[in-house]
Amino acid sequence: MKDLTPDRASLEPIEIASIDEIRATQLERMKWSVRHAYENVPLYKARFDAAGVHPDDLKTLADLAKFPFTYKNDLRDNYPFGMFAVPRDQIARVHASSGTTGKPTVVGYTRNDIDMWSNMVARSMRASGTKPGNVVHIAYGYGLFTGGLGAHYGAERLGCTVVPVSGGMTERQVTLMEDFRPSTIMVTPSYMLNILEQYQKAGIDPRKSSLEVGIFGAEPWTNAMRAEIEAAFDMHAVDIYGLSEILGPGVANECVETKDGLHIWEDHFYPEIINPETGEVMPDGEMGELVFTTLTKEGLPMIRYRTRDLTRLLPGTARSMRRMEKITGRSDDMIILRGVNIFPTQIEEQVLSIPELAPYFQIVLTREGRMDAMSVAVEATPEASHEDARAAAGRLLAQKIKDRVGVSADVVVGTPETVERSQGKARRVVDNRPKE
Ligand code: DLL
Repeated sequence: MKDLTPDRASLEPIEIASIDEIRATQLERMKWSVRHAYENVPLYKARFDAAGVHPDDLKTLADLAKFPFTYKNDLRDNYPFGMFAVPRDQIARVHASSGTTGKPTVVGYTRNDIDMWSNMVARSMRASGTKPGNVVHIAYGYGLFTGGLGAHYGAERLGCTVVPVSGGMTERQVTLMEDFRPSTIMVTPSYMLNILEQYQKAGIDPRKSSLEVGIFGAEPWTNAMRAEIEAAFDMHAVDIYGLSEILGPGVANECVETKDGLHIWEDHFYPEIINPETGEVMPDGEMGELVFTTLTKEGLPMIRYRTRDLTRLLPGTARSMRRMEKITGRSDDMIILRGVNIFPTQIEEQVLSIPELAPYFQIVLTREGRMDAMSVAVEATPEASHEDARAAAGRLLAQKIKDRVGVSADVVVGTPETVERSQGKARRVVDNRPKE
């Protein structure tokens, strides 16, 4: 793999500023943001008043803990534009979640917000090793989802040649990549596997592709998956994180030279880790729920937004700003099976540790009587697809899940192409338990 470490001179000074300078910038911006929310969004005024706190009470960064949390449901309850802090005509763009249940959550950006977003994605891409002038293939979905357009504006800001392919039509993705020779691809890791499979079907060696780096996010993925993709394409795989309520992609990103977790762009987003049950702020290094406060956003300021993502904060390495460890999972996706908490990423690690299994899986939950049961659908690689090999790989996976994850799962090893392929964010859990 090529060394893609960016020149230090190409970084923004704040990325490598002293911690004191970063904290001072954060405090000044946080005071503005909390006041902006209080003065312009009825929900914040009502909630701060009810909690007996006022923007004047924020004198240090630690004072933020006195302020109430904000939740996804607040956006739903104020659908569509009720949490915007500027008049609607100053909102330059809206995005929305896919909204599988109930109303979608709508987010809005002013022109300045879009400008900041473009800068954060450009900074993330630079950290990933992308350089101005590179060809960038964007296969995140374009539309209300923030992935496509977020990546697009960032790639333009960095000065790249952008190929706005969006998701789907996997065969064509491969043709375009072979013809346009991108050095960077931006896509969900699960859809990247779909692209990999298409390379194999077309008889093209993916290690000979022009790709040097993939910037993967929008869903949890493990270091085992990183190793799988890096080996398959002979390229770097780095992690990009974000969520629509806070920005979209570009809230945090790994550095290609270290790949040791994601640096949070703390000059615009203030992170806290809390105990999800008690709401108490945890010290850096402890695992818990990630909470973000936006520091500069005009259209939709978010104060102490509960992401439901589980991780921990670590000190800076390649940059001064703190890192968050790769996300273990969302508390909403946690499966509780006979008292054991399980995240799909734990199953992913086990599937990827068995060479006879292809890197696709889906967890199916059922209820038999009063007992919940978990089955894991996987598939054999073409080389290991005969019955005996599949049975052996299935036994091995069941054993590993029992030993390493701590639960009994029924493993079903299908022949190649029997597991659903991802078109964007993978559907890792199919819950067939009766609704209560
Ligand atoms: O997924 C924004 C995004 C687009 C991020 C493209 C990165 C790349 P939402 O659809 O609002 O926004 O989903 C946000 O996705 O709370 C996490 O649970 C999950 N997520 C996003 N990035 C990562 C990541 C976009 N790198 C939700 N690792 C978040 C793990 C991620 N989970």
